[in-house]
Amino acid sequence: MNKLNGYVAGLEGVVAAETRLSRVDGIAGELLIGGYLLEEIAPAVSFESMVYLLWYGKLPNEAQLGQFSQALAEQRALPELVLTHLEKIVALQGATMDALQTVLGSICIDRVDSNVNIDNQCIAFTTLARIPTVVAAYWRMMQQLSPIAPDPTLSHAANFLYMLTGETPSAAKTRGLETYLNTVVDHGLNASTFTARVIISTESDLLSAVLGAIGALKGRLHGGAPGPALDMVFEIGSEANIEPVLRAKLDNEERLMGFGHRVYKVYDPRAVVLARAAEKMYAADGDLELYQLAKAVETNALRLLEEYKPGRNLQTNVEYYTALLLHGLGLESDLFTPIFAMARTAGWIAHCFEQLERGRLIRPKASYIGERLTL
Ligand code: ACO
Repeated sequence: MNKLNGYVAGLEGVVAAETRLSRVDGIAGELLIGGYLLEEIAPAVSFESMVYLLWYGKLPNEAQLGQFSQALAEQRALPELVLTHLEKIVALQGATMDALQTVLGSICIDRVDSNVNIDNQCIAFTTLARIPTVVAAYWRMMQQLSPIAPDPTLSHAANFLYMLTGETPSAAKTRGLETYLNTVVDHGLNASTFTARVIISTESDLLSAVLGAIGALKGRLHGGAPGPALDMVFEIGSEANIEPVLRAKLDNEERLMGFGHRVYKVYDPRAVVLARAAEKMYAADGDLELYQLAKAVETNALRLLEEYKPGRNLQTNVEYYTALLLHGLGLESDLFTPIFAMARTAGWIAHCFEQLERGRLIRPKASYIGERLTL
């Protein structure tokens, strides 16, 4: 940790907010979401219940869940303008994350006029409901397929898979995606959540906060790692190649994607939950050989990281098993970070509500290290 004149590089260890949304204990390897242990809640509830918990502070009863799910489902369809923008971006062959970033600013255009009257509740529902529609529509356009209209009778997770493929997904696949979305929905004051809180603390609107957070999420050191993590497993390809490929990367001072975390110094509990969910899915319906290769890569990577970086406690992080789980759902790596964004949007919004209620303009100081010059 670099500490000079009160400056802490990367704000490591600095407490910059109070939250009831999640507690990350990096020493115990424990994550609480909305007060519940991750391993208990993530595989057990629907994504809609999880969002309700974060936005309203308690799990919904049946009637509340029904109303909330319906209010979200009603907002899924995209305004014409967004579809037209997406068609134009397809011509440029942009990545799905870039397309999402580009159209997000107009995603609520038919619902609110944020310059006149900021209606953050309306923005919250509309944004969360429509991000999956943008992702699915753009992905299909990139495959020269027409977008599929959302089905309001399906859950948030099932509808997303339906809009990608045109088929109603199995209960196992829907559960796999819901467990993933619940697992990554919130995680303390990570870089993108901090970004969202900074933006909303200026009393800007919620959509601007989500837009800023998406920009922070897409970096490789945050939400952009799962694609490269899976590429690494494919590049290795067989058990015999594991050691030479990993050693070559480490000799070359490359980072192994899907390993290491700023806060977790034991294991990342999200990786454990997703590893279990991935194993279930691959055993039921998938390429178990790939899963076994990934397990062997993980074991060797942890051993080699300890050899090359002794004492840094580099462990498997959430991105490694994200890649495996989402691949098992039949999803391509270009979709991994946008799907992370689909989940984390709910967490960003919850943090923004909390910041608006209890917070103060976030405005830290910088320590000037330049010279004093005269003309
Ligand atoms: N592979 C190889 N070496 C690593 C890795 C890795 N994955 N992660 C950290 N190290 C090394 C660094 O080179 C550094 O070595 P040094 O002390 O010899 O200079 C040491 O471990 C400490 O690294 P820092 O960068 O200080 O650790 P920090 O806490 O800032 O980094 C981070 C955390 C960014 C996640 C890092 O571990 C990393 O780059 N991992 C790979 C990318 C990745 O998986 N990102 C997803 C993170 S999870 C999420 O955001 C949802």
